[in-house]
Amino acid sequence: MAKVTLENITDVVIGSLGQNGEITERQREIMTALIRHLHGFAKDVKLQHYEFMAACDYLARAGQTCSDKRQEFILLGDILGFEVLVDMLSNEVSGNESESTVLGPFYRHNPPVLPKGASVVQKHFEGEETVYFEGYVRDADGSPLQGVILDVWEDAPNGLYENHDPDQPDYNLRGRFETDADGHYAFRALRPVPYPIPDNETAGELLRFMGHHPNRPGHMHFILSKDGHRPLISQIYDSSSEWLDNDSVFAVKDSLVGEFEPAGEDLDTDLHVRFDFVLKAEKTEQKVAEEVAAE
Ligand code: BEZ
Ligand code: FE
Repeated sequence: MAKVTLENITDVVIGSLGQNGEITERQREIMTALIRHLHGFAKDVKLQHYEFMAACDYLARAGQTCSDKRQEFILLGDILGFEVLVDMLSNEVSGNESESTVLGPFYRHNPPVLPKGASVVQKHFEGEETVYFEGYVRDADGSPLQGVILDVWEDAPNGLYENHDPDQPDYNLRGRFETDADGHYAFRALRPVPYPIPDNETAGELLRFMGHHPNRPGHMHFILSKDGHRPLISQIYDSSSEWLDNDSVFAVKDSLVGEFEPAGEDLDTDLHVRFDFVLKAEKTEQKVAEEVAAE
């Protein structure tokens, strides 16, 4: 192996790939680019050893922050705009299918299975606004999709998801619904409010290092899945919410903004949102729950 210099170190490390054990083409591709970009970054900023040590300490502390309630590395990826970038690379839009966006760290498996139109609200809050969400799920040709499973989850009017708030019932504001023969889904919920992503610990340090606030605009989370179609992880944003144009995790897309209109007389809620989805047909029958579980 060549002796290292400032000039050749990147090529020496890349040249060493696979020399003591077989690696796949994909491993080689990933590690080559990673080493090139990482070395280029250090050279660009002339990284100093004490800064490298601070970064190692930071990552160790980030790891220690992880628990079954907090995945710090997803949060750090979100703050850097990395999850939304990876999501756009993984779910490229090629036609009229609905756009995806970040999953975030607050999804829970196995939410309550509820009939169409049921409410996900188990606890009421002063000042809450109730909302009837509905719409149609179709394929790219416009045909209704029956039997699409929709997992939905949102924060409470106090800005907290139930699993981060000991005063909310288990699985409050979460539910699993299914589209009917017309591809129609519906459920009752509360207007989601803006909230700060966790801004203590290492996520907070990164936000402050970047001179950023932690806030997200009000949104409803969705996962849509049906065999033979690409699973869709997305969010619908309240068009009148604060932070819509300044989301701390860069996840807002124009096509995902919905109107929270005053509900008509025929409804028992304060507000009404109509939002339709288009799912992209896909050959594999991988279910989103499996994909999320594998993360
Ligand atoms: C969320 O929408 O739940 C979320 C997304 C990214 C980071 C934190 C929260
Ligand atoms: Fe959220």
